[in-house]
Amino acid sequence: MPDVMLRTEGLTKGFTLHLQGGLRLAVLAGIDLTVRAGECVALTGPSGVGKTTLLRSLYGTCRADGGRILIRHRGALLDLAAAEPRAIVAGHPILLLDEPTAALDAANRATVLALINEAKARGAAIVTILHDAAALAVADRAFPMTALQDAA
Ligand SMILES: Nc1ncnc2c1ncn2[C@@H]1O[C@H](COP(=O)(O)OP(=O)(O)O)[C@@H](O)[C@H]1O
Ligand SMILES: [Mg+2]
Repeated sequence: MPDVMLRTEGLTKGFTLHLQGGLRLAVLAGIDLTVRAGECVALTGPSGVGKTTLLRSLYGTCRADGGRILIRHRGALLDLAAAEPRAIVAGHPILLLDEPTAALDAANRATVLALINEAKARGAAIVTILHDAAALAVADRAFPMTALQDAA
């Protein structure tokens, strides 16, 4: 599909809690997410479900344990697992926004939402985490996430 900008396939990520005897915390298990040009997808779900972990995996600041992260780069879908992530995402029309309207007053919130709409109109693919219903209206669809397990 030519308009796919970002796709995860079977993305898996957990954390080893070294201060808790090496306990393994599974956070993401087999996430399949596809985002097309001009589409804004909001990751939704309660705190601790793994929304930020998923976004960080897409930035490349957090390394996935398994699965693939495909990013459109110079016309082709490139696997981030085999590339230098930050070099590729920079300057490309993909926006990853973790709670961009949190702690903003109404005017600045409206500005951020307007910028997201402008980016969509330019054809950017956007993955974001938004909590309030009014802000969520900027998203074309939600990607609901559920907890794999209760926190230890
Ligand atoms: N660096 C980390 N080390 C250990 N556990 C982490 C780390 N980052 C997140 N977690 C845990 O992963 C789970 C998901 O966290 P997070 O992705 O921040 O959720 P959300 O953004 O949906 O609130 C939580 O249980 C959190 O405590
Ligand atoms: Mg978060």
